[in-house]
Amino acid sequence: MKSVNVGICGLGTVGSGTVNVLVRNAEILSARTGCDIRITQIGARRPNPSCDTSEISVVNDIFEVASNPDVDILVELIGGYDTALKLVKEAISNGKHIVTANKALIAEHGNEIFALAREMNIVVAYEAGVAGGIPAIKSLREGLVANRINWLAGIINGTGNFILTEMKDKGSPFADVLKQAQDLGYAEADPTFDVEGIDAAHKLTILASNAFGIPLMFDKTFTEGISKVTPEDLQYAEEFGYRIKHLGIARNTDKGVELRVHPTLIPESHLLASVDGVMNSVLIDGDAVGQTMYYGAGAGSEPTASAVVADIADIARIISAPECAVPPVSLLSAGQDVSVLP
Ligand code: HSE
Repeated sequence: MKSVNVGICGLGTVGSGTVNVLVRNAEILSARTGCDIRITQIGARRPNPSCDTSEISVVNDIFEVASNPDVDILVELIGGYDTALKLVKEAISNGKHIVTANKALIAEHGNEIFALAREMNIVVAYEAGVAGGIPAIKSLREGLVANRINWLAGIINGTGNFILTEMKDKGSPFADVLKQAQDLGYAEADPTFDVEGIDAAHKLTILASNAFGIPLMFDKTFTEGISKVTPEDLQYAEEFGYRIKHLGIARNTDKGVELRVHPTLIPESHLLASVDGVMNSVLIDGDAVGQTMYYGAGAGSEPTASAVVADIADIARIISAPECAVPPVSLLSAGQDVSVLP
């Protein structure tokens, strides 16, 4: 059986979940991929008690993983921009495929990363960057590939949805609920990204790029967060038969693509209105299939790891049988000229 060697950089919430899922489900994964997927090395500044790394080489310097000749797939789970970008570019230059959960990196530097990856014939996969454990990118790229996508809309930030839900149900103050979301490992390192809609805008940018075949255009996304929504707003909305949800919406119009993230009133009978807590949901309208809807945990250790490992498995299949594997991911068509609203 072909061995596929994985190097993981970052051992926080998602990194430790990834180690746990890869180790626990090793047999299932090898049966499904025909590969023996091994963790060759981990780059992390400190050991993590949430996973067992006693059998794995752990180094402090993540760049050692990017240059390790025994690593086939580098899994970037350090987050942030500058170091992550440098790490990913170096790994690609060294011929390593990339799996990342870093939506900020992909949304803001993906065009550059994909161009380099194309030159090097490298796959860059980022399912875990969007909507946690929901296979939203894979659905767009695979299950819905026959469709012209008309629009998509979703609750794509777990922390924000958790805050809105707790404020509505319990009247809890915003700051207290945010602290809970941080303690549960849902929030970004800088939670402004969650509450001001930046994280949702990153994810919407990535979804839209896959849905409409356009470059990543984060800076063209209208972005408004939930920091001004009060428990009273949520209660009044409920009295009128609505819920306030923080939505990302991407629409393909005759004039261009519309990308927006903002709090939205939704009738309580709509399926999206009942998506509560850390759960995410993405609703996609395609010309052939009509509407399909996806629901699942939008953040957290193992739900996000589920998506990371799915990308690792896809790449393992490509490495072991490139002639028959379906390329699953990420090398977007570049340079398409599109207008973006507003
Ligand atoms: N902070 C993000 C969220 C993590 O709450 O959705 C998952 O992307």
